[in-house]
Amino acid sequence: MKYSMNTGCDQNAMGVDQRRRRLIAGLARLAAIGAAPLAGCGGGSMMSDGTLAVGLRNDPITPSTSGRNLPIVALDEGVMGATGSREFLLRAQRGSARLLDGVDSATLGYNGPLLGPALRLRTGESTRIRVRNDLEEATTVHWHGLVVPAAFDGGPHQSIAPGATWEAAFTVVNPTSTCWFHPHAHGSTGRQVISGLTGLLIVDDAATATLALPHEWGVDDLALVLQDKRFTAAGQIDYNLTADDLINGYAGDRLFVNGVAGAVWQAPAQWVRLRLLNSCNARALTLQLSDSVPMLQIANEGGFLASPLVRSSITLWPGERAEVLVDLGRVAFGRDLTLYAAGANGGDGMAGMGGMGMGGMGVGGLGLGRFASSAEVNAMTIRVDRPRQAGAISTPPDRLSATPAPVAAAAAPVRTFNLDGGMMSSVFTINGRSFDMTRVDFTVAARTVEVWRFVNRTAMAHPMHVHGVHMSLLSRDGAAPAADERGLRDTFVVEPMQTVSVAVQTPAAASQVPLMLHCHNLEHEDSGMMGQFVAA
Ligand code: C2O
Ligand code: CU
Ligand code: CU
Repeated sequence: MKYSMNTGCDQNAMGVDQRRRRLIAGLARLAAIGAAPLAGCGGGSMMSDGTLAVGLRNDPITPSTSGRNLPIVALDEGVMGATGSREFLLRAQRGSARLLDGVDSATLGYNGPLLGPALRLRTGESTRIRVRNDLEEATTVHWHGLVVPAAFDGGPHQSIAPGATWEAAFTVVNPTSTCWFHPHAHGSTGRQVISGLTGLLIVDDAATATLALPHEWGVDDLALVLQDKRFTAAGQIDYNLTADDLINGYAGDRLFVNGVAGAVWQAPAQWVRLRLLNSCNARALTLQLSDSVPMLQIANEGGFLASPLVRSSITLWPGERAEVLVDLGRVAFGRDLTLYAAGANGGDGMAGMGGMGMGGMGVGGLGLGRFASSAEVNAMTIRVDRPRQAGAISTPPDRLSATPAPVAAAAAPVRTFNLDGGMMSSVFTINGRSFDMTRVDFTVAARTVEVWRFVNRTAMAHPMHVHGVHMSLLSRDGAAPAADERGLRDTFVVEPMQTVSVAVQTPAAASQVPLMLHCHNLEHEDSGMMGQFVAA
C-alpha cells in the first residue's frame, strides 16, 4: 500500500475526531443519568490528579525499567496424529516466576511456569487438544474466539478435576486470526487468569499464505500478551479483591508483556507484525508507539480487516486482540522505541478523561504522539538493533483477505440484553438475572443470523463476549461502527449508557450444551454478569 506519514496523519485525525465525539457522547450520557464520579459507585474512579476515569480500571501503573529481554511466546505446531488430526497437549501447572526484582512469585502456566504457548492451528484441519489439569483445583480451558461445538468450548460446563485430562476435538473454521485460551471455571476465572493461565491460538488459513506479511515467528512475527498484576508485601500475586475491585474489576499496578515488566525486544530493522492481546482482567489498554511511529492495523480479534488502517493508537478492552504492522526499517538503527500503554475509558487515540482537562484530548493524534494521562506507562522497549533479515517484506499488502461478516436479514429475530448493576453493590446482571449454571437463559435456532442488542444501563463500560459464534457490529447508539470495529468479532465494548447492536451467526449445529454470553471484565463475570444459551 502507499504509505506515508502524511496520509497517516489525515486518516488518524479523522479517527480521533470520531472517537472524541463518542467520548463526549459518553460524558453526556453519564451527565444525563446523574452518574456520580465517585470511586466505588460503579461509575469510575477519581484519579489522584482529580480527573475522572470512566469505564474499567484506570489506576496508575508503576513504570518499570527492568531491561530484561522480552520472552518470546513458544510456538507449538502440534503433531499430526495417526487419525489425521493435528494434536496438542496442554498441561495446566503451578510454578514460580521472577515477576518482581529479587523475589519469586507463585504463578500458574500452561506447559511452563507462567502463561502458555501459542498453538498454531490451521483452518479446515481436524484438531485435538488434550488438557491435563495438574493444579490442585478444578479448571477449564476455553478457546476464546474459536467457533467450536459447545461440548468442546471449554466453558464452565467442561470442568476438569485436579489430575484429570479433558480432550477438545474440533475442525477449525475460523479464518486467519489471533485467538487465545484461558480458564473459565465459574467463580475462579479471574484468579486463575491473573495468576498466569493465558495462551494463544494462532489460526492460519490458505488465503493468508499468498499475502506478503511478516511470518517468522519470534523474529518479525511477535505475540505480545499484556497483563497487569499487583503484589503483596511478600512479592506474591495479590488477588484479594477490594470493594473497588468487586465493582470496577481487578487492577494491578504493574504491567507485564509476556510475563516481564519493562522488557526490551531486540528487533530487526524491517516491517514486523505484532499480535497484541489484552489479557488483563479488567483494565482497558490504549497502546501507542513513541516517536509518533504509526501502527498499520491489519486485524482485529476476528481476523483481517478489509484493508490496513493507519492508527496512532489502539485501545484493547479485556479479551480483545489486534494485529499491527510496524515499519522498523524507518526507525534510526540502534534507536529505542517505547510501546506505551495507558488505561482507557472508551476513547481511542487519546489518553482518556485525564487528557481532556488538560486540553490534550484528541489533538495529540500522530503529531504529539504522547498521552496526557497520568496512567501512561511504558509497556516495553523496542530496540531496533538487528539487521534486516533476508526475505523481509518491503511493502505491506493493500488488501487483506477479510472474511465476510454475518449479515442480518430485515426479518431477523432481535434479542435485547439489559446490562445492570454496580450502583453501590457488586451485583451485575444481564436482563435482571445473575449467572446460574443450571438455568438456560434462551434458545437460538442453529444456522441463522439474529440481531442482539446490548443495552448498558450502568455508568461503566462492559466488554461483552459471546462464545462459539462470530458476530459483526451493526451500530453503536444507532451510528455505524468505526472502520477498526468492522469484520468478524467476538468481543466488543458497550460504553456507559450505550446500546450496541450486533449480528450473530448462530451455531452450525444444535446442541443442548450451553454457550456463554458475558462481560469480559472477569470480576463482573465471576460475580454473575453471564448468561447461557443453547442452539436447537
Ligand atoms: Cu475469554 Cu468466556 O471468555
Ligand atoms: Cu470466549
Ligand atoms: Cu462488566
